[in-house]
Amino acid sequence: MERDSIDRDKLRALARQVGVDFGAALTVALAFIGDQLGIFRTMADGVARTSAELAADTGLNERYLREWASTMAAAGYLDYDPARAAFRLSPEQAIVLAHEDNTFFGAGAFQYAVACYRQITKLADAFRNGGGVPFTDYGLDIVRAIERLFQAGYRAWVSSQWIPAVPDLHQRMKAGAEAAEVGCGAGQCLIPVAQAFVNSRFFGFDVDSASLARAREKAADAGVADRVTFEQRAAEDIPHRDRFDLVMAFNCIHDMAYPRRALAGIRNALKPGGVMLWSEADASDRLEENLNPAGRTLYGASTMHCMTVSLAHDGEGLGVVVGEDRARAMASEAGFASFRRLPIENPYHQIFELRK
Ligand SMILES: C[S@@+](CC[C@H](N)C(=O)[O-])C[C@H]1O[C@@H](n2cnc3c(N)ncnc32)[C@H](O)[C@@H]1O
Repeated sequence: MERDSIDRDKLRALARQVGVDFGAALTVALAFIGDQLGIFRTMADGVARTSAELAADTGLNERYLREWASTMAAAGYLDYDPARAAFRLSPEQAIVLAHEDNTFFGAGAFQYAVACYRQITKLADAFRNGGGVPFTDYGLDIVRAIERLFQAGYRAWVSSQWIPAVPDLHQRMKAGAEAAEVGCGAGQCLIPVAQAFVNSRFFGFDVDSASLARAREKAADAGVADRVTFEQRAAEDIPHRDRFDLVMAFNCIHDMAYPRRALAGIRNALKPGGVMLWSEADASDRLEENLNPAGRTLYGASTMHCMTVSLAHDGEGLGVVVGEDRARAMASEAGFASFRRLPIENPYHQIFELRK
């Protein structure tokens, strides 16, 4: 058998890429520490600090901070002034690394990756034996990570873009409707939506009790607890029929053990004329169209978490990539009469409108 000849340029490029990825993996772990210990938050004021000044302001060890800040500066996460040996967060770096309420905030990704890394032994076992890793094993870090990754976006987009993209629904929500969200997590979407539509009532359903405990606490803090109820329920077991004007399912159908039953359960819970809004990551149904940095992140998150939490319960293990064609087929299988992708440009989500 003739062996393929070696293309030296391809060889060098791949070896270089592995080196870049190695550095990226270490950066993620250290950025997680910077996030969790509040170093980025301390530096969000934009003041340039030497490592000694940073140690004084954070109460952390100077030597570790110096090495950490050097890594962050090399990664482009901090600016460095050699004249003063001082590090600072530029306004742009502060937005991405410290401003939780900005849609560009990204530090939730560090927390997500570390929560996944912590499960690596169990994940490897699942490769050998099948099964998965239950959501609860990932601990509060995954609850917080998902909340922090998506909250600012939902606050900015759902009540002011996604719901208004369906005019009759928007009218009902303003006048006073009943709406539910399945897979609501820590209330990152439902609470801001409840704040926006003050005449409507809301129900959040999720299977994870830690997420729901946090959601209830946040609803009370936000002053909406009288109109927002959180219940521990699987989407396929929503205990209501023909009730809701709106059911939202954002970034969660793919995590479910039984996504098809969940869609059927949601359909049953909608009143005639009710609308389901369903979001998934904006990706293609064709693997070959996802072979890019976004696709790598999605399939990586899916293998380390989304597919795996579904398989942990003997579920379908749908995987995070659900493109428009697959979503349409699932909607039709669940008995929905209409399906369309809303004409909304979004950096992460594709949003589908389904009607009973
Ligand atoms: C990736 S998180 C998304 C949370 C939130 N929707 C968001 O986009 O930030 C998926 C959520 O779905 C929940 N979940 C998984 N299976 C479920 C089911 N069968 N019914 C309801 N929620 C479920 C998980 O507990 C988790 O909170």
